[in-house]
Amino acid sequence: MMKNLSPSRYGRMAQMMHWATAILVLVAFIYGPGGSEQRVYLPARDFDRQLHETLGLCVFALLVLRLLWRQFDTRPEPTPQARWMHIVSKAVQGLLYLLLFAVPISAMAGAWLEGHPLTLLAGFEIASPISTSHALGVTVANIHTWLGDAILWLAGLHATAAIYHHVLLKDNVMLIMLPRWLPLRQRR
Ligand code: HEM
Repeated sequence: MMKNLSPSRYGRMAQMMHWATAILVLVAFIYGPGGSEQRVYLPARDFDRQLHETLGLCVFALLVLRLLWRQFDTRPEPTPQARWMHIVSKAVQGLLYLLLFAVPISAMAGAWLEGHPLTLLAGFEIASPISTSHALGVTVANIHTWLGDAILWLAGLHATAAIYHHVLLKDNVMLIMLPRWLPLRQRR
């Protein structure tokens, strides 16, 4: 079968991974236990922490799959738009990829350096493979919290830009990340 060299929108798989990532990041943020180490590891917060860590690992696994898929998939031609908009949107997307990597890595490193295993749903635990360095772990865990806030702000900016394109510029930027049954707009 001939490969579509320049599809008009992202493929179904790329779209599914994009929206699954967005939902997982949002739910992980909502269930983020937050606060001091003592608060995070209170028995009363076990469920929130386990859910948060499980979703975080899923985000990381999805990122790896997504980056692999991206190597083989064909992406749509960029929608015509002002050069500065194109540069800013690519920079934001690049930063989002970077944060999707840095947020779970800093979580794992922080917990392990503090001497905690990763605690997942259904009682799974992943013990620390590194030696404890408590003060460094606390710093890395704090960095994780800031990066978690940063990804939400950046995703909010990215989503606002997509909605701005759709509602005010009336171009196809938003539609190329949505299913085929939503027709693309004709270029004027
Ligand atoms: C945590 C949430 C989100 C993350 C991490 C995220 C991340 C990304 C990334 C990395 C890309 C680039 C895809 C690629 O070319 O490989 C992308 C594309 C896109 N995203 Fe998101 N996204 C999020 C939420 C949203 C939301 C809520 C919307 C819309 C309301 C949205 C709309 C889009 C659109 C329309 C594109 C295609 C843009 C283009 O190629 O010009 N995203 N997103």
